[in-house]
Amino acid sequence: MSREVRIPTGIAGLDRVIEGGVRDNTTLLVVGSSGTGKSTFAMQYLTYGLEHGENALYISMEEPPEQILREARMLGFNLDRFYEKELFFFHSKGRDFVKLVDEQLPALVEANKNFSVKTRVVIDPLTPLIWAINDKQEQREIITKLFYTMKQLGPVLITTEEHAAPGETIGEDVLIPIYMSDGAVHLTYRPIGGAFNRALEIVKMRATRHGEEVYPYIFVRGMGVVVRTTPLVSAEDMRKYDDLFDKAIRTAADLGASETVLERLAYVKENWSYPFSPKETLQIFFESQGLTDALTREEIARRKEESRPSDIQLDIAELTAKEPATTMPEMPDANSGDAGDEGLIEIEDLRELEELIQ
Ligand SMILES: Nc1ncnc2c1ncn2[C@@H]1O[C@H](COP(=O)(O)OP(=O)(O)OP(=O)(O)O)[C@@H](O)[C@H]1O
Ligand SMILES: [Mg+2]
Repeated sequence: MSREVRIPTGIAGLDRVIEGGVRDNTTLLVVGSSGTGKSTFAMQYLTYGLEHGENALYISMEEPPEQILREARMLGFNLDRFYEKELFFFHSKGRDFVKLVDEQLPALVEANKNFSVKTRVVIDPLTPLIWAINDKQEQREIITKLFYTMKQLGPVLITTEEHAAPGETIGEDVLIPIYMSDGAVHLTYRPIGGAFNRALEIVKMRATRHGEEVYPYIFVRGMGVVVRTTPLVSAEDMRKYDDLFDKAIRTAADLGASETVLERLAYVKENWSYPFSPKETLQIFFESQGLTDALTREEIARRKEESRPSDIQLDIAELTAKEPATTMPEMPDANSGDAGDEGLIEIEDLRELEELIQ
């Protein structure tokens, strides 16, 4: 996990699952087909910065500033008051864009060097540039240079139009920008109605522990996009399943699991980072390892002898013959600090048994 300062994107819900925001001087790519909300993302991103004392640079390849501001108003963002005070535009078409990348942008970076105010940069969309340059090699070179230069100004958000062929997850023409970016999110729209028709996925986020789920998002007038995320588990929260793991390890030991399996369980305990309980995973794992309470006492005793030959030899089976059951061993309750005991073969019971025998 990185300790670097994070810059909030302003996109509600997203920052929660990317450790609080983006890193300075990095690029974040928003990929999505037409109407998925890319411009809304861009406007939200700019607005957040402008409302928090930052400057913003909008690089546009198609539309003049007036039209962009008009569209922003239609999306619910009034940026007029910042125009040419904190919000600046670079408007450059087609091949002229190469000149912008080669000359104007580096000059701006130079002029900006001693300027302490942070500048957010937006390109919405990058697509016309990709279309204007057919040669893949040239495309890669100009995108590399563009990203490299923009990043020197501050955190950058770029949007790219996606045209995925049927069966493709992500279209070919966005692969270069994704590859070149420090982070990428993918927006999808499935016109099936209901709350889950728009979804966001984080494709990558360098140096960031990020959420891995498919997050539905909604448009809220006055807010823009709201991504419906659950906060990632914090370091303290991660420990909340320790009791459950400890119980599972004891149960596994009671069921005669080998040292290797017990070590593996201890390793999983240390590395569990999901926000949900490991109960189901543990049950599946137990079953895969043949650790069920369908095991007879003979089998358990045999396993124990095998894994710990130095242990006192006890003929537990003879004393406690038990009908094989068909159910899985119950795991303790997920959220309770003190995990429940149902269905577990308690190690205490076995000790009692041993004492009894002796
Ligand atoms: N308040 C809202 N309620 C429902 N849908 C909305 C709302 N606001 C925006 N949308 C949807 O978002 C779409 C436009 O979002 P936006 O312009 O950000 O998308 P885009 O990905 O930039 O599209 P384009 O490819 O045309 O540039 C609209 O077509 C509409 O479907
Ligand atoms: Mg758009």
